[in-house]
Amino acid sequence: MKNVLNIALPKGRLGESVYEMFAKAGFECPSVLEKSRKLIFENDAGTLRYFWVKPSDVCAYVERGAADIGVAGKDILLEYEPDVYELLDLNVGKCRMAVAGREGFRDDRRRTLRVATKFQHCARSYYASIGRDIDIIPLNGSIEIAPILGLSDVIVDIVETGTTLRENHLAVLETIFPISARLIANKASYAFQQSQIQHLQQQLALQLQSSKEES
Ligand code: PRP
Repeated sequence: MKNVLNIALPKGRLGESVYEMFAKAGFECPSVLEKSRKLIFENDAGTLRYFWVKPSDVCAYVERGAADIGVAGKDILLEYEPDVYELLDLNVGKCRMAVAGREGFRDDRRRTLRVATKFQHCARSYYASIGRDIDIIPLNGSIEIAPILGLSDVIVDIVETGTTLRENHLAVLETIFPISARLIANKASYAFQQSQIQHLQQQLALQLQSSKEES
């Protein structure tokens, strides 16, 4: 039986640049970059199967073994804490998790802080670590609107360029942790397809090393 390596990539620009890194490492499957609505791609030799999934779903596929390996942001790993191996920091998709609020916002510690976020677990852990009482307001997107309309005092969200905050007159109040994309592996797959996975990990690490040396 052929040993197919199933790889979950986060749909979007980050996933495409990660695929380029995998291709350079010898894990090519050119059809992946075809413009179509197809989501699953296999190489001609039938040894690799790539699929595009929503970035926040990558760890579910990898944790349950539907994918042997995948690429997920550190934000997703800290939010969902999947039982997977984190093999390598790919040094792309860099941004940060931050607390943001209206420019000039001052926290009144006598009141419970209202925090709007998609990242409930990260927000709870951060505020627990500083001993601050909060009321979480779970949202799914456009989080920046919440403090503007008075739905929350602050937000906990991803900041990349800072443009979204700036254009909505919000500012970073605190950085919680830096984020980058990570190579992750299913624990059983790592044991059974170790040589293939380790080969990919080593090739990617070499690429990262040489791009570091060039810059
Ligand atoms: C993310 C995040 C911010 C924005 C930050 O949103 O939630 O809104 O990117 O990027 P910036 O600092 O470069 O402006 P995303 O595009 O993932 O959409 P969302 O509104 O669904 O969260």
